[in-house]
Amino acid sequence: MTYIVNEICIKCKTMDCVEVCPVDCFYEGDNMLVIHPDECIDCGVCVPECPVDAIKPDTEPDLEKWLELNAKYASIWPNITIKRDPPADSDDYIGVEGKFEKYFSAEPGEGD
Ligand code: SF4
Ligand code: F3S
Repeated sequence: MTYIVNEICIKCKTMDCVEVCPVDCFYEGDNMLVIHPDECIDCGVCVPECPVDAIKPDTEPDLEKWLELNAKYASIWPNITIKRDPPADSDDYIGVEGKFEKYFSAEPGEGD
């Protein structure tokens, strides 16, 4: 198994998760992060760090799309291990439905 980041992260992107990961397996897109499924050691340490509960074990139902998306973009986007400030409007997107369709960006983030 692995943990993955799902659409709840999109535009919230608080980045509280990155510094606790013992194997540095978060990768940064323009408006969300993903986890590299082959690098994640399933420790679960990042899960309680995310204030919006965007990190899930891939054993939960209906996460195949997100497993594929995490795997795809973790191989494209830059690695991130140091937290930066979230977007200024991060809080405005907490609990917003349909964020993938409305806001997902395939563009890479800055990385470290
Ligand atoms: Fe990193 Fe552990 Fe979270 Fe996987 S579960 S992304 S290894 S902190
Ligand atoms: Fe996203 Fe949560 Fe990390 S909002 S950036 S998965 S702390």
